[in-house]
Amino acid sequence: MWYNTNNYSRKIYDVSQGGTAVKGIIMAGGKGTRLYPSTRAVSKQLLPIYDKPLIYYPLSVLMLAGIRDILVITTPHDLPLYRELLEDGSRVGFNIEYKTQSEPNGLAQAFIIGREFIGSDSVCFILGDNVFYGRDLTLILEKAMARLDGAMIFGYPVKDPKAFGVVEIDENKKAVSIVEKPEHPVSDLAVPGLYFYDSSVVDIAAEIKPSARGELEITAVNSRYLELGKLDVTLLGRGMAWLDTGTPDAMLKAAQFIKAVQDMQGFYISCIEEIAWRRGLITYEQMMRLGESLKNTDYGKYILSLSE
Ligand code: G1P
Repeated sequence: MWYNTNNYSRKIYDVSQGGTAVKGIIMAGGKGTRLYPSTRAVSKQLLPIYDKPLIYYPLSVLMLAGIRDILVITTPHDLPLYRELLEDGSRVGFNIEYKTQSEPNGLAQAFIIGREFIGSDSVCFILGDNVFYGRDLTLILEKAMARLDGAMIFGYPVKDPKAFGVVEIDENKKAVSIVEKPEHPVSDLAVPGLYFYDSSVVDIAAEIKPSARGELEITAVNSRYLELGKLDVTLLGRGMAWLDTGTPDAMLKAAQFIKAVQDMQGFYISCIEEIAWRRGLITYEQMMRLGESLKNTDYGKYILSLSE
């Protein structure tokens, strides 16, 4: 399918790979204790990063990947709030389902909770608090999906990798090890919270054992793919921003970054109504109606300013 807007045309990636669709899962559970008291009563991914809820950022990554079926996993307490915010997704042209994770048993439990949703499809798994921004993001996602055979993760150089999953690669850029929050990291490549898996992830997640901190770690899933010789790593370069939002400082920095880019360029980051329109999921008139309902805000005014 081709579309043409604002003087540029490009091919929308067909997310079916020989009959296998790619589904999306956003993990928005957890207690967010590093953000207490702000997250005592409300889920972290509902808090704003500058002018929109945090979950809009990972949601827009899935939209840019061309994914239409999305499962949001959150706590029983927060589920009604996410439903109120995102409804069934049809407003912006996709389907959202919801499931709960009642205890923080780890990220990999998402594939056990989402087993039926995934079925025999591949899955793009994104953490609800990860913000990505970069010119080539859509291309990178499309490439990742096109050549998926097993699992695909990203490697992103950071100054202090200890707080993340850390991947070590050889001279051929093949993964040799992956460790969750290592005391002594053997590389500076953190693994961002964006992962692609084939449907065998549901069986792999069912087999892994909880870590010392009692969680089913996403790194354990990735290690299993590595053992099977099916873990691909794509390096994200300097042109890509990956922003952490784990602490008040990190949230403020992310908000400042978003504001700076939006103010400078006049384009909004992760405006889901705009992305839905540009990807042909909703019409211009539908987008205008959504803008109208938000017209008291700069966000709404931005939507209304977009020209056909
Ligand atoms: C999780 C993962 C870690 C990954 C990070 C990315 O850590 O366990 O491997 O690098 O997300 O944000 P958390 O931030 O949930 O402790």
